[in-house]
Amino acid sequence: MNSLSRHTDYGSASLEESAVDPDPMAEFAGWLAAAEDAELYEPNAMIVSTADGDGRPSSRTVLLKGLDASGFEFVTNYASHKGRALLANPGVSLLFPWYPMQRQVIVTGAAHRTSPEVSDAYFAARPRGSRLAALASEQSQPIDSRAALEQRVRELELRFPGDAPIPRPDTWGAFRVIPDHIEFWQGRTSRLHDRLRFTVLPGGDWRLERLQP
Ligand SMILES: Cc1cc2nc3c(=O)[nH]c(=O)nc-3n(C[C@H](O)[C@H](O)[C@H](O)COP(=O)(O)O)c2cc1C
Repeated sequence: MNSLSRHTDYGSASLEESAVDPDPMAEFAGWLAAAEDAELYEPNAMIVSTADGDGRPSSRTVLLKGLDASGFEFVTNYASHKGRALLANPGVSLLFPWYPMQRQVIVTGAAHRTSPEVSDAYFAARPRGSRLAALASEQSQPIDSRAALEQRVRELELRFPGDAPIPRPDTWGAFRVIPDHIEFWQGRTSRLHDRLRFTVLPGGDWRLERLQP
């Protein structure tokens, strides 16, 4: 069937003001756990959208690697397209596309580099091959060929043989996103979907509103 003309009616799950946690970070943690329990592929994948200093937008998928009561963390290359955009303009959107659950969450906020110690810990936790790849790749820059990239990895394997410690490149690290809005979306029948949006208030409390679908 042609997906462009399909009209899938979404299910019976609902989203009630009385049932969501008044702390949206706690609510988010519950939704992420539900996506994990549902065994969605890459439940921590999110679309990270940035706008550079000229306001030019761009989006890409990134994995959420850290979550606590106040923020979201992901790792990347600070010199990449997204990294440079965020350093020029920290405004960011994170979109979690949990389509099989007829859910999405959209976070907006500001992204800042974490401390080097936080990035070191994420780097140390990566498999050796991923650490070498991080060292080999000037993310978002053109390269002549796949062979040239693989050659760089081979050279690094010789430079860091066996279990030799691999230093974290200065350009690789974590961003921490402090949210100012978090919207929970649940698909409902006949496109009358539920949307609950939290907005942070100056004192740090959250205001909850229902948005029209
Ligand atoms: C499922 C998936 C997970 C990804 N996870 C990451 C990630 O955690 N960090 C990252 O830098 N890129 C990740 N990527 C690659 C990015 O989508 C993107 O190609 C890369 O970061 C360069 O983006 P940029 O040139 O816009 O900066 C992932 C891609 C996919 C499809």
